[in-house]
Amino acid sequence: MGVRFLGWGVAVPDRIVTNDELSETLDTTDEWIFERTGIHERRVGGTAKSLGVEAGRRALQDANVDPLSIDFLVLATTTPDRLIPATAPMVANELGLVAPAMDVNAACSGFMYALRTAQGLLATGATRVLVVGSENLSRWTDWNDRTMAVLLGDGAGAVVLEKTDDEGDLLSFHLGSDGSLADLLTCEHGGTIWMDGKEVFRRAVRIVVESAEHAMKDANVTADDLSLVIPHQANVRIISAACSRLGIEMERAVVVLDRFGNTSSASIPLAFDDARTNGRVKPGELALMTGFGAGMTWASAVVRWSR
Ligand code: COA
Repeated sequence: MGVRFLGWGVAVPDRIVTNDELSETLDTTDEWIFERTGIHERRVGGTAKSLGVEAGRRALQDANVDPLSIDFLVLATTTPDRLIPATAPMVANELGLVAPAMDVNAACSGFMYALRTAQGLLATGATRVLVVGSENLSRWTDWNDRTMAVLLGDGAGAVVLEKTDDEGDLLSFHLGSDGSLADLLTCEHGGTIWMDGKEVFRRAVRIVVESAEHAMKDANVTADDLSLVIPHQANVRIISAACSRLGIEMERAVVVLDRFGNTSSASIPLAFDDARTNGRVKPGELALMTGFGAGMTWASAVVRWSR
């Protein structure tokens, strides 16, 4: 069996926080932030639930399916509204789903981990699964810490997946984790997000390259076959270093972090949405989706768009 992407949706808060606005309260500049990260502005506001509901509703509309036809909701978040309950049942309730619902936390690889979980659910009896990635990172950001505050943003993305009898859209998957690196990017209960930026950067490039190579090998494709790379949006320099090592020109990579910053599990669907809006998602063509994050965790998949 295979998995088909039926419909996508995204949601971001209205409030835009520019680099210049951050420079008013932090010892930083638009030039520094843009040169080192590629970020111009980010969205701030909402909750994991409210953004997840909005993205989920749009994905259901885009897929043109009845909420009651969804068999499972998997919601990726690293910033749930509460410790308990999980955010997923509340989102399911708002969307009118009558289905099991659970959160997945794999930090910035969360959307990819949720997709992989959904693939397993579809292989074992489910017909349609809603996957949501929703983040409220601003709540866990120390707005006085210039090393973190400039990087993060809020947002959500969602996709409806359906089981198919053919090969489907997901051709391969490669995931991994290494908990010995847990302290590189961390947030204690009641604390704020902290990161060893340099080390995360170094590891991220290596991890993305290795995981992408595994996924391409498993799908029996090469970098030349890919028309699009939809990477996790942490830093444009990570994306460009990884693409360069994979032999992929930056023109094939989707970059939206200039507008949204790092939105963790929402970043890949936000990038997909941008690519589709700009006519870059073409039936029959191949793409690589790849993510990495705290844990550390990582995940790559090769997809072929069927619509
Ligand atoms: N504005 C101005 N200066 C800043 C700054 C800011 N917002 N943040 C840090 N600096 C300063 C540092 O204090 C340091 O000053 P010093 O040389 O006097 O000590 C200098 O800029 C260089 O800092 P450094 O941390 O070496 O910069 P960098 O080039 O490594 O860029 C990151 C920092 C965070 C942008 C970069 O390391 C990064 O993107 N890392 C990975 C982030 C990531 O992917 N995270 C999410 C994973 S899912």
